[in-house]
Amino acid sequence: MATAPEIEFLQSMKPIVIFECEVSAPPNIAFVKYWGKFGEQKPINPSLSMTLTYAKTQTLMKVSKSDVFGVDVLFEGERHLGFKKRIESYFQTLIRYYPELSEYHYHIETSNNFAHSTGIASSASGFAALGSCLGYFLESLGRENISKSELARLGSGSASRSIMGPFMIWGTTTLKGESSDLEAIPMNPGAMEELGDIIVIINEEPKEISSSMGHSLMESHPYKNARIQNAHRNILKVYKAFRDNDFELLGNVIESEALELHALMMTSATPFWLILPETLSVMNWVKEMRAKGEAVYFTLDAGANIHLITKLKDQRVIAEKFKERFSELKILLDRQGLGIERIR
Ligand code: DP6
Repeated sequence: MATAPEIEFLQSMKPIVIFECEVSAPPNIAFVKYWGKFGEQKPINPSLSMTLTYAKTQTLMKVSKSDVFGVDVLFEGERHLGFKKRIESYFQTLIRYYPELSEYHYHIETSNNFAHSTGIASSASGFAALGSCLGYFLESLGRENISKSELARLGSGSASRSIMGPFMIWGTTTLKGESSDLEAIPMNPGAMEELGDIIVIINEEPKEISSSMGHSLMESHPYKNARIQNAHRNILKVYKAFRDNDFELLGNVIESEALELHALMMTSATPFWLILPETLSVMNWVKEMRAKGEAVYFTLDAGANIHLITKLKDQRVIAEKFKERFSELKILLDRQGLGIERIR
């Protein structure tokens, strides 16, 4: 057992925390998909998404002055080598822009209230939370004009869209002069009614193929140019749908974007597919529901899980009907939301 003077000595060695920040950040679901990138995390096409409310990553960051740069990461209370590596390489990128970040040690504790790597974009909420903490830290060091969306983007492209809400555009588009490849900007929801998202969990296992791998396959994809043109066109259609409260137009674009994303995966040089038989069953059910007059549309990110987009006022009824048909599948009800929140 350590003696009293030894304990005193050890305590005097403890790093002194000079900055502390805790942020919660939601994922977002893309209506027009980001798929393919160039340069330093810039998208080959503009994307548009809805920020969620209830699903969240919560991240606590404690910073102490240190002669050597270092990071330690606890994910859900445990050390996670994969996340530590990704976060370390994120810091290496940020240090090129903000060299002062290398003079500190960072203790990061992060947790999700939903399963990670399942196509519910945990990298989006994760880097939105961490990027925001770092943004607040840089501001505390006197840096001005920090864009938290830009910091988040350097960790994960889709994270740039989780900083604010409810609808965000990332990537240069003719629709908005201020749109940018570097950060996401909010889009006015126009006359559109409030929207809900029923997230159907089909597979909770981590994906076998990362989004990064999928993005890189777009570099030489035979349909790359057609894809970029479609994305630009679809951004304009979604904007029109929002302006005119045309949920049917919005739904048609959302589904076509999801199908195009997965078709691009299947037609890449190294073909792969992430949808499972249950994903297809749910897609068929959505079509049946529409034939019966229900306003519900599906979308998918890079995974087997499926998001059912509804008007918020219809969400409960549609969720109940879903449960009657697919009692074995877990669902999470979410809704459009406003982005990050600083807790401390
Ligand atoms: C299919 O943002 O996860 O969800 O920038 O490599 O971290 P990285 O990729 P990521 O890609 C998301 C792709 C998508 C579509 C979207 O969210 O727009």
